[in-house]
Formats: sequence, structure tokens, C-alpha cells
Amino acid sequence: MERVQFKVNEKQYSVGSEVDSDTTLLDYLRETLKLCGTKYMCLEGGCGACIITATKNNEDVPQAINSCLVSITSCQEWDIKTIEFIGNRLKGYHPLQKVLADCHGSQCGYCTPGWIMTMYSLLQTKKPTMLEIENSFGSNVCRCTGYRPILQAFKKFASDAHNSYELSDIEDLKICDKSGDVCSKSNCSELDWCMVSKSDILNEILHIELSDKRHWYRVHTLSDVFAIWREKGTESYMLVAGNTGKGVYPMLEYPNLLIDVTDISELKGFYVDQNLVVGAGNTLTDVMKIFKTVSKTEYFSYLIGLNEHLQLVAHIAVRNLATIAGNLILKNQHPEFKSDIFIILETVGAQITIMTAVGQSKTLTLQNFLKEDMKGKIIVNVLLPPLNESHKIVTFKIMPRAQNAHAIVNAGFLYKINENQNQVISCRIVYGGLSAKFNRSWKTERYLVGKSLFRNETLQGALKILENEIIVTENLPDPPVQRAYRKIIALGLFYKGLISLCPSTVLHPRYRSGTVKLHEKRPVSEGQQVFDTNPILWPLNKAIPKLDALIQCAGESEYTDDIPTLSGEVYAAFVLTTVALGTIEKIDPSEALKEPGVIAFYSASDIPGVNSFTPPVNEFNLSNEELLCNGEVKFYNQPLGIIVAKSQKIANKATTLVKVSYSNVRKPVYDIKLAKNDPSKVTLLDTRDATTRGNDISKIIKGDNTVYGQYHFAMETLLCLTRPTEEGLQLFVTTQWIDTVQQVISRMLEIGHQRIDIYVRRLGGAFGIKISRASQVAAACALVAYKLNRPCRLINTLSTNMRAVGKRLPCSTNFEVGVNNKGVIQYMNYELYSDNGYVLNEPFLNMTFESFTNCYRTDAWNYKAFNGLTDTPSNTWCRSPGSLEKIAMTELIMEQISYELNQDPVEVRFANLDPTFRDDINEILKTLKVNSNYTERLVSVEKFNSNNRWKKRGLRFSFLKWAPVGYQHLNVNMSVYNDDGTISITTGGIEMGQGINTRATQICAYILNIPIDKIQIKPNNTMTSPNTLPSGGSLISQNVGIGVRRCSEELLRRLEPIRKTMDNPTWEELIKRAFEMNVDLQVHAFVNESDIQNYNVYGITLAEVEIDVLTGESEIIRVDLIEDVGRSINPAIDIGQIEGAFIMGVGYWTSENLVVDGQTGELLTNRTWDYWVPQARDIPQDFRIYFREKSFSTELIFGAKGTGEPATCMGIAVPIAMRQAVSAARLESGIPSTNWFPIDGPYTVDKVALSCATRIEDFKFY
Ligand SMILES: Cc1cc2nc3c(=O)[nH]c(=O)nc-3n(C[C@H](O)[C@H](O)[C@H](O)COP(=O)(O)OP(=O)(O)OC[C@H]3O[C@@H](n4cnc5c(N)ncnc54)[C@H](O)[C@@H]3O)c2cc1C
Ligand code: FES
Ligand code: FES
Repeated sequence: MERVQFKVNEKQYSVGSEVDSDTTLLDYLRETLKLCGTKYMCLEGGCGACIITATKNNEDVPQAINSCLVSITSCQEWDIKTIEFIGNRLKGYHPLQKVLADCHGSQCGYCTPGWIMTMYSLLQTKKPTMLEIENSFGSNVCRCTGYRPILQAFKKFASDAHNSYELSDIEDLKICDKSGDVCSKSNCSELDWCMVSKSDILNEILHIELSDKRHWYRVHTLSDVFAIWREKGTESYMLVAGNTGKGVYPMLEYPNLLIDVTDISELKGFYVDQNLVVGAGNTLTDVMKIFKTVSKTEYFSYLIGLNEHLQLVAHIAVRNLATIAGNLILKNQHPEFKSDIFIILETVGAQITIMTAVGQSKTLTLQNFLKEDMKGKIIVNVLLPPLNESHKIVTFKIMPRAQNAHAIVNAGFLYKINENQNQVISCRIVYGGLSAKFNRSWKTERYLVGKSLFRNETLQGALKILENEIIVTENLPDPPVQRAYRKIIALGLFYKGLISLCPSTVLHPRYRSGTVKLHEKRPVSEGQQVFDTNPILWPLNKAIPKLDALIQCAGESEYTDDIPTLSGEVYAAFVLTTVALGTIEKIDPSEALKEPGVIAFYSASDIPGVNSFTPPVNEFNLSNEELLCNGEVKFYNQPLGIIVAKSQKIANKATTLVKVSYSNVRKPVYDIKLAKNDPSKVTLLDTRDATTRGNDISKIIKGDNTVYGQYHFAMETLLCLTRPTEEGLQLFVTTQWIDTVQQVISRMLEIGHQRIDIYVRRLGGAFGIKISRASQVAAACALVAYKLNRPCRLINTLSTNMRAVGKRLPCSTNFEVGVNNKGVIQYMNYELYSDNGYVLNEPFLNMTFESFTNCYRTDAWNYKAFNGLTDTPSNTWCRSPGSLEKIAMTELIMEQISYELNQDPVEVRFANLDPTFRDDINEILKTLKVNSNYTERLVSVEKFNSNNRWKKRGLRFSFLKWAPVGYQHLNVNMSVYNDDGTISITTGGIEMGQGINTRATQICAYILNIPIDKIQIKPNNTMTSPNTLPSGGSLISQNVGIGVRRCSEELLRRLEPIRKTMDNPTWEELIKRAFEMNVDLQVHAFVNESDIQNYNVYGITLAEVEIDVLTGESEIIRVDLIEDVGRSINPAIDIGQIEGAFIMGVGYWTSENLVVDGQTGELLTNRTWDYWVPQARDIPQDFRIYFREKSFSTELIFGAKGTGEPATCMGIAVPIAMRQAVSAARLESGIPSTNWFPIDGPYTVDKVALSCATRIEDFKFY
């Protein structure tokens, strides 16, 4: 029987007919080999959690690969290395693992193996520079750390790092003279095909009939493919190259014939005859190497520019798989696809060769290729023409973030000009992202021929034609047509292209800024972390790495889905509604139940008890929320049923086969900005009436601001594993709140709490989504386990997590404010509307009512807070819920006052400051102004703005006063082992990256005066931690600390009499004796409402940004942030919390855009392909964090303050700085900066560019 052979971690394995077409390398590693160190989230190449290193055949070099994209049957002759191989507990840890742990680069740890493997792969091929390292992580997302510590750790391995780490396994690398990269070949001639594999000489077709009856072929020649087609037909096939296309256009089912073409040598390599002929089966990484090599050849130097564009395509790990042919076929099948490969090839006038039958091929222009029916045809190669110096080429890709995002608009321009007179002989103007039908500006091209290119008249003439010629069509979630961004950007790129090519003698110096590609000139980032630590207190107040950091870096830490499969286990998935409002008439699961492997379907009628995943109504939960929709649909994609199957993939797939009919379907209201004007959608929660009103009114300002939701983007989605036990049920749940899960399941199944055991060891990030929303997944999973009496696992896909679950509460305000000429508020009528989703449940507005004041005096403010409802999922906890939005809204009012009065924004803030906080804020501001060099930088920003027309900068502060809200019930249990004096503790707090276990250990070690390695924190369960409130709200660390302190002090009290009878005993001797003397060595502490600690966290942030006026892109040049953390238990962990929180706030305000279809209510941004959290190249270029000096909260919590949330609120500094830059651009268009302009958050590239109000007539050379 034929099998695919490969190695994993130096052991040989093979697969054959036992696997199906869906089995990925990731599945094989995790499920078959139980190598669970490799994680996953998106399953589409967008998060990097699954990255491993693979050498694709014996001749090739090791590369980072997204294991979620690769079919296991594609791995013929691969040599695969996983995180378990490179370092572990037994053989010792790899330097990368150690350095990342030491640099605090792992918080929840879920993303960490992916980062290590990406870096490990990078180091296999070269010793990169710091800049190259920073540029290499478009593949990886980390939601916890804010990236700075990860980059800092990895840069220690750079060739240009001070005292660079040497790794023994990269010292022997042989660098290829041609490509400059690692190569194992002993010699090759200049035009040798670099990528021919050993198996090229093996000619047998490998054929496997897979377990799902699909046929897998591994072929070696093009004729092999045609032979298979001749025999089996071309009705249902796929040529499997990199298999990354499914990361762009998700594939629910593979076709019947899967033909692996990666071994066809005719599709590989390159040669130069007159053209450069590049095999279409080359990966994009191969292509970049080829371009680099050939660019040294006469007439091909333009390839350097194309390579710069290729750097922006996907990311390294995808480029290591993705082929040119695969990309072009996506464009052929989906003309709206914003293919960068199409753009660059069409710009230079490349052609492609396709093979239509054995011995028959034809060459097509790309325009003709788009019209070609490619069924049963193969793209063989791409021909790039030689272009001499008279050809000027420039291409652009405008993205919503710096890396790994598809283009919003991409473009390429080629002008063949008569060198002396700059007269256009011919040209090509190519666009993507505007419309499926429009990719060339033929009319404009024709217009330009014969014209002198770098003349203002030519430019304006061309722009007029182009403006009329461009066709932009609606293609949500792309920026909508009516906002005209894509059209303006298309015109802007045309201009940008021309000024980039314009001789410097012609171009006015002010316009040169338009030629710079903002992200490309980004330097290596840097950071500073300034804090005090007192050695007398150590291990308290010491910046030690997180105690689990090393095992996290080695993939040895266990997350819920790493728990091995249980015998008889089934898998469940939610069926979601496909209308937002309507009545379910009928649910017909029959088609789904016929699918092989589907076991059962459950709906609301199968629930024995209460159909709710929220606990009985209490102060945190005001309403029941349906576990499964029972008739009236409340929002698009509400869960209505559960499919159970023998695998997660089958379950997920079968959910789409359940047929549901609806009546009374209505259009939803999904936008709080609309809902706030509908009295039936809002209720007044509370009012704060002004107690004074000033009369010194020089201006009345009216306004409104809105900011929308934010998806939490925890790298581990919601999931649960339930096991029926002899008592009842045992659940392993990704929850921040075990108590509520127990309550919900008890009510739903009508079984006692004592029969339901909930366990949590750690979470792969949470940020609030796992507080109450985890119960829905847990309840569904428990229902299945209960009904079938079998273990069940339910893992929400990223898409279900985003579609079916609520997010941060959108928020909208209306206000009218009367101010004097200094900006002092004389009166303000201020209304704030919070969007709860379809139901008012978790009352954040109540809980954070006071936050609207921030640090300002509000006695002249009439404030009304309204709870709003929209037809969207019930919104939920999300890092600093309620307070973040309110603080931001108030900061925006301060900004509007300062603009409209033309006053210094800091002075306006001070003029309105609450005297109670004045000293604190003043002290912090003074320090920050000095640390940040504010005065000098203000001058240079002004100078920059006056010198540059197309780039503008902003430098702006935001203020913060933040107070923790709520309390927690926690049980802390401490057990001391008499034989060796070691201690284990359970805390009731859930470790999700915030380092509570490390802090708890430090506190215990400090009080007991013992080494920290004597202490181990154990996972939580409902037996040791009953009745706990959620881990959240920046309270958990302090409350765990109180409990641990209480236990430790109680233990010392019990030991004291024994100690007195001994002569300076060691800890071990003391414990042993205590045990012999019948001292109870198990201690319990209960932390509760009486332990509330009141304090304020103050902070000020100064952000400097630069925007590209022509595109709307931005870079954060520098951030200086002071936060008042009190006396930190662990400064390193607190720095991590602040950096991560701030970057999450920056994402919320810049790139994280949730787009809803206005007609249906469907969330259209529900994948990594279209929801963009910040990545490593989006963080401030220079990021400086300072702790406030000599701050102390209260003694009970050792003077510490919460750090998990406050810095999220300071993310507002970035859009505020962007506004200033935009304002400077508007000034150039004649709009005074005293004219406030509305921008609703997030400040995405399109909104920034449009707000600049650029006039096309201002596009000039001189
Ligand atoms: C995370 C991510 C980010 C991305 N970012 C970008 C981006 O920024 N810009 C961009 O342009 N693209 C981007 N892409 C798309 C990527 O470039 C394509 O997915 C890739 O090039 C497809 O190549 P493949 O080898 O993986 O094709 P496969 O997925 O293996 O195949 C795709 C299609 O091509 C067909 N095919 C394959 N080879 C041939 C051939 N020789 N002849 C005829 N048909 C063939 C197959 O039958 C199939 O229909 C991204 C993809 C991912 C996953
Ligand atoms: S799981 Fe593979 S990239 Fe996200
Ligand atoms: S540590 Fe990176 S996602 Fe949590």
C-alpha cells in the first residue's frame, strides 16, 4: 500500500489511506503524535500559533511553515521539527526558549511555541540583522505582550546585536553565493535551477485512496497530471501546491482528486532566455530568491522593486508554501481578489504559459488569462520581460496594518519614457482592490502617451481622466464606496507613483515626503522600562520571569485542548441562525444527520432544565441569555442547535447542513449611533445633575463621538471538554469564572452543584471573553455529554467565536458644552449611550458609572448614562469594560475644546482638572514632560509639518484616572508537606497570562522567607475554590495576594510556638517538628467584600505619530507612558501588563474594525483575513514605560495597584495624536484647525485619509 513518508523530530512516520483529505500536519502532530506543544487558533495562516520548522526535502533548507495549512499527505520526504524537539525538560532548553522566558516574552504562553519556531526557522537560514528579525514576524500574533519583549529577546540573536548570542547549529551554514541564503548543494552554475528535489528523479505516481474516498496523487511530471485527468476527468479536482488558498477562500470540502504538484520539476526553477522564465510552481520565497539573483542581470534590476512588494505579501511562513500559480488561479477564479502577484506581474507586462494538453501550451497576457477557463489546464511558468533603464516602475500596497494583511488598494505603475524629455512612450497603470472588473486604466494610459510626464498640467490632466475612469464597487468589508476612500487612494497612489519617479531637480522639496513609504522606512524598534525595585523586599518587588515562562516557551504547558482524547469522545459544534431577527419555524437536521460521522443534533427542546447559559439573576447578570435560541431570533448567528460528530471537523461542517426556516424576518438595528435616537432602544440608567453653572461662556461647542466594539482575540478560543463521571460531570473549561459554569450547568441539567466539577489550569489569553461567555460553550458541551453519556469536546472556531459571541460595548455620546476662553467648562450637557447588544445583562454602565469623570471636575456637568440595545450578540467584559470607553469619550471632549478654542490641550485639561487629583496628575505630567523631551519635540513636530506636505505628525497627551471596581470571593488553600517543607497553593484565581501564580509565589516566599522553588501553585477546581467570583477587573492579583498573605501569616502563627522551642531551625526542620507536634499544616483563607481596597491609578501618555496624507497609513513614532502601579509585586510582570494593555488599546483605536452587513446584521469581519489586531511592526517605534515613583496603595496588598486594564484606556493617546496630524493636513487644504471634524473609532487608514480632506488639485510636482 502506498504511503507518504516523512520525519518528525528525527523519527520516521508514514500515512496512507487511514487519513482523510482534511487531515493537516497540525492535526497529525497534535492528534496522532500527541505533540501538543504546537498550538492553533485561526486555521488559516493568520495567527502563527501552529508554526513548525520543515525541510521540505533533503535538498532544501529548513523553513517556518504554518502546519494548519499543510495536508499531511503533502509532507512526502519532509523533515519536520516541532517545539518539543528543539528543547525540553529532559534534554535541556534551547537558548531561544531560555532567552524569551528571561525577557518576559511569554504571558499566557499560547502563542509562544509559534514564535519560537518562527525564530528557530529564521536562524536556520541566516544570521539576520535586528531589522530583519523585526520584519520576520508578520506571521505571528501575540495578544498579551505588546510584542516589545519578544522582539527584544529575539534581537539578542541578531548579527548586529551587542554581544550577539551564538548558536552552535547555525555556525556551519553554507551560504549560497547566488541567493545569499543557506544551501546544502556543493556547487551549481549561475543559471542552475535551485529547487530541484531528490524525488524529481523518482517517476512513479504515488496514489492513495483516502479514508473519505478522495484520491491523493503525488505526481512528478505535467503529463502525469493530464494522465490522471484523462482517466478520472476534471469535474472535481485540485492541484495541491502550497494549499494556502484555503486561507483566503475557506474550503468546506476538498474536491475528489487531489493532485500534489509540488514535485513537478517543470513547474520549478527559472531560466533567462530573452525573458526571465519562472516556474509557476515556485513558492513566493523561491521567487524572491530568484528575483534577487536575476536582478543583478542586465535589464532585470527592476526585480528589486518587485521583491520589496513581495515582502508585503502574506508573511514568511505562508510565502514558504504559497506558489505563483496558486495565487494567480485565485485571481482567475475570484476577480475581486486583491492579488499582489497579479499587480506586480501585470505592471511589468509579464505573460504566463499555460498547458492545455500534453505537448500543447500557449502564452497569455494576464488580461487574457483572467478570461481563460482554467479547468483542466496548468499554469507552467511566468515570463517577465527585460526592461531597460527607460522603464520606470513603482508599485504600492496599502494595508490596514504594517504586515500580513491583504491590500485595501494595491497598484503598480510602469512608464517607458524618453530619458531626455521625460516624454511617455508607453505606460501601464494597474490597480487592485477597486472592483472585480477594473484593473487597468487604459484611458489614462492612452492620455499619457506622448506627454511630458513630470509636468503639473500632465498630472492634472491624467488625474481628471483617471477619476472618471476608475470603477469602485461595493465589496464589504472593504471601505464602502460612498465614503470614496478607495477612489481617492487610487488617485493618491497615481500621484505618489509619479512623485516617486520624478527627478529631484523637478520635485518641490515639500512634496518629497509623498515619495516615502511610511512602513518601509520604519527603523528597528526600541524600548525602555524604567522602574525602581527594592532588594530588601526581594523576592517581593523583584522583576523575576513568570514561573511558567520556560515550560510555556517549550510547549510543555498544558491548555484545555491539550488534554488527551478520552475513549468514546465526541465533538460538538454550534448551529447558528442565518437571520438577525425573525421566528424559527422549523429546524430540519436530517441532511446533517445523514453525513458520515454525525452522531446527534440537539436544540432548545432537548434541554431538561433552564435554557440559559447565564447564572440565576444576580448583580452581575441581570437577565437570562438563551443557551440555544428557542423561537425568536435575537441576532445574526445566534446559536440554535448543537451538532455532535465523531470529529470536530465533521461537526463544524455538518452545522451548515441543518436547514432552518424562519418567518417574520426583519432588518436589524446594529449601530448604537442609530439606536441612540430610537427611544425604544435606550433606557436612562442614571443621571448626575450639575451643582454649579458658570456664566463666563465664550463658546458653545456641540459634538458627538462614537467608538465601536472590539473582539477580544484571545489566542485560545472558547472550548470545553466534558466527561461523565460516576458522580455527574467533570468539565475542563476555558473560563475565567468556574463558579458560574457550575451554576449554569446545574440549572440546565437539573443536577446538584456537588455533582459537577469544573477544572481550569490556565487559559491561552482571555481579556474578558472567558468570564461569562465560556459558560455557553461549557453548557452545550455538558448537554451533549449528559445526553449521550460520552465525553464531549466543543471547540469554537475563530469564526464562531467572533460571530456568535458579544464583544466590547460600543459607545456613543452627544454633548453640548459651554466654555470660557481658557476652556474651563461652564456647563455641559453630556449623554452617553452604551451598546449592550440585544439584552441588558452585564451592567458595565452601572459598574463604571463614575469613570466618565476621568480626572476632571464635573460639578458643572449634567450627565446622563443610557443603556442601549441593538440586534447584536450580548456584549460582554473586555479589558477595562465601560471605563475605557468613557474615559476616551471625555478625553475627546477635552480635545475638541482645545481645538475649537485654539488652546493648548494640556492647559485645557488642567483648567478642568478635579483639584482632588491635581497634585498627582501634575507630578506625573512634570516627570513625563522631562522624560519625553516634550518641549523640544513639540518644536520639531511643528517644523516637520511645515516642511512636509504629504506626511504629518502629531504629538499629544492623554490623561488617566482609573479606579478598580468590584470585589471577589476567593478561597486560597495552602498545604505544606511535612517531609520536605514544600508548599502547594490553590488560589481561586485563573492564570491567563497576567502572572498571578508568580505573584502569589513571590508573596508566599517573602512572608515565609523561603525560596520560591519550594512553592507550587496548583490548578483551580470547584472543590478547592467554590463560590469564586470571576478572575478579571484587574482585581484578581491583589485578591489572590490578600489570600496568600492571610494563609502565610496564619501558618507562621501556628509555627511560632514550635519555632520557639527550637534553636534557629531550618524551614524543613521547623515543618517536620510542627507536624510531629500535630500542627495543622493546611491553611485556608477567604477573601471577600470586606477586602475591597480603594485607590486610584493615575497615568499620562504622550504619543507621537506620523501619518501618510496620501494613503492614511500611520506609524507610531514614540510613546512615553507613566503609570502609577503602586509598589509593584513584580515590575517585569506589570510592565508586561501595561505594554500588552496599551497595544490592545491601540488596536481598538486604529485597525480593529468590526464591519456588519447593514441589511442582514451579519458580522463580515470574523477571521484573521479581515480583523486586524496590531502586530510586531505596528507597535511604537520607541516605547518607553515608566512607573510612577514612590507610589503605594495599601498595606494589605503590599502597596501594589492593578495593572491589567488601566493602560488599555491610554491607547486613546494614539488617535488623539493622529487627529493632530490630520488637522495639520487639513490646514494645507485651507481648513482651520479650529474646525473639529468627526471620526468614529477606530481610526482606520480610510478614515484617516478621508479626514485629511486632500484636494486633487493639490497634487503637483512643483
Ligand atoms: C495568511 C495568508 C495571507 C496572504 N496574503 C496575501 C497577500 O498579502 N497578497 C496576495 O496576493 N496573496 C496573499 N495570500 C494568498 C496566497 O498568495 C495564495 O494563497 C497562494 O499564492 C496560493 O498558492 P498555493 O500554492 O498555496 O495554492 P493552492 O492553495 O495549493 O491552490 C490554489 C488553487 O490553485 C490551483 N493551482 C495550483 N497550482 C496550479 C498550477 N500550476 N496550475 C493551475 N492551477 C494551479 C489549485 O488547483 C487551486 O485551485 C495570502 C494567503 C494566506 C493564507
Ligand atoms: S492556526 Fe495556523 S496560523 Fe493560525
Ligand atoms: S503570550 Fe502571546 S498571546 Fe498570550
